[in-house]
Amino acid sequence: MPAATQTDEKDEKTTIESALWERCAHIMDPELGRSVVDLGMIVGIDATDNQDGTWDVAVTVELTVPGCPLSDQISAQIHAAVSSYPTAVLIPHLEVGSMDEGKLKDLVADLKAQRRENPFNKPGIKTRIFAIASGKGGVGKSSVSANLAATFAALGYDTAAIDADIYGFSLPRLFGAHAQPTNLNGMLMPVTRWGVKLMSIGMFAGADRAILWRGPRLQRSLDQFLADVWWGEPDVLILDLAPGTGDMTISVAQALPNAELVVVTTPQPSASDVAVRSGLVSLQVPMHVRGVIENMSWYDHAGERLRIFGEGGGGRVSTHLTRALGYEVPLLAQLPLDPRIREDGEAGRPAVLDADGWLRDDGFADAFRDLATALMVPPRAMAS
Ligand SMILES: Nc1ncnc2c1ncn2[C@@H]1O[C@H](COP(=O)(O)OP(=O)(O)OP(=O)(O)O)[C@@H](O)[C@H]1O
Ligand SMILES: [Mg+2]
Repeated sequence: MPAATQTDEKDEKTTIESALWERCAHIMDPELGRSVVDLGMIVGIDATDNQDGTWDVAVTVELTVPGCPLSDQISAQIHAAVSSYPTAVLIPHLEVGSMDEGKLKDLVADLKAQRRENPFNKPGIKTRIFAIASGKGGVGKSSVSANLAATFAALGYDTAAIDADIYGFSLPRLFGAHAQPTNLNGMLMPVTRWGVKLMSIGMFAGADRAILWRGPRLQRSLDQFLADVWWGEPDVLILDLAPGTGDMTISVAQALPNAELVVVTTPQPSASDVAVRSGLVSLQVPMHVRGVIENMSWYDHAGERLRIFGEGGGGRVSTHLTRALGYEVPLLAQLPLDPRIREDGEAGRPAVLDADGWLRDDGFADAFRDLATALMVPPRAMAS
């Protein structure tokens, strides 16, 4: 072969290979949200001229976990990136393996180091964190958390939710999330359902659960959910807290100083009195109380609006907390009793969504849309 042709061919080989590296750099690992090239998953790209106008392209891929559920998806994208190359006919040949332990450790260390640079508790992060609390149990914290998170996700916000109620976890059931989080050498990937990145103790089976939750449980579980899970940098993080007034809120405030407390109450005085106390916990820690949600406010039946649990609880909590805390704690929403909350909750889909995952076009979903919008307005006066 003449020297000039050899050089041309070499040039073309280099051109094709570097163009393919570039194309692959746009393929994201769906769980880690980073390019498969940056993650070191593409190990080699080698183009061979078949001398008939076509090229064989061998792509060596190393995934994080063998048989990882997303490997088909990643392989298909690499395949497409090669075969859709515009200026030559390329025939992809993928060799898919998994990273060795050393490489995986380095990758996880790298991800952890990065995350440390950008954790939830840094001032100025974009993530708005809403901790959903109540004094009394059973007022609808988990239902509100699930539907609110689903609403945020349906509105296009990158949304995460943590089931901080480690003994009475609810989110896996409400979201129909049956998968276990993928464990990448000690770093956990949240499970995404209905567009929301979820993490809950309920996702771990017996033995795993025991290992995860040693030590002073409440604080440690929350710390682990924040530190050992790859969250990226969501726009919104919702925490579904356990009922009660004290410990949990203090733990959240310590772990997440930017978290804003949202107090859920029902309309009757017995619930609203305890709800006020749950808001007053914020006096002990530097935590802003963002507002109050009154749940189960009424039930529309045969054209009549029935106030089954009485009236005024949300307004009372808002007034009391505003007075006690010295800044406005608004009543953000009054949510109706709607049997679909329970029915859809049991079916594994938040009631604000239709079967295709879109926000429903009805008054109930509208109430959550308005609530989400109200929450995203920056608080006017932060607690000093
Ligand atoms: N607006 C509503 N309309 C109808 N049912 C509701 C509504 N809100 C909550 N529920 C139902 O009330 C029950 C308690 O709700 P949920 O579990 O959300 O409360 P919680 O405050 O998280 O409870 P816990 O204190 O046990 O964590 C559930 O069966 C739920 O389906
Ligand atoms: Mg709950």
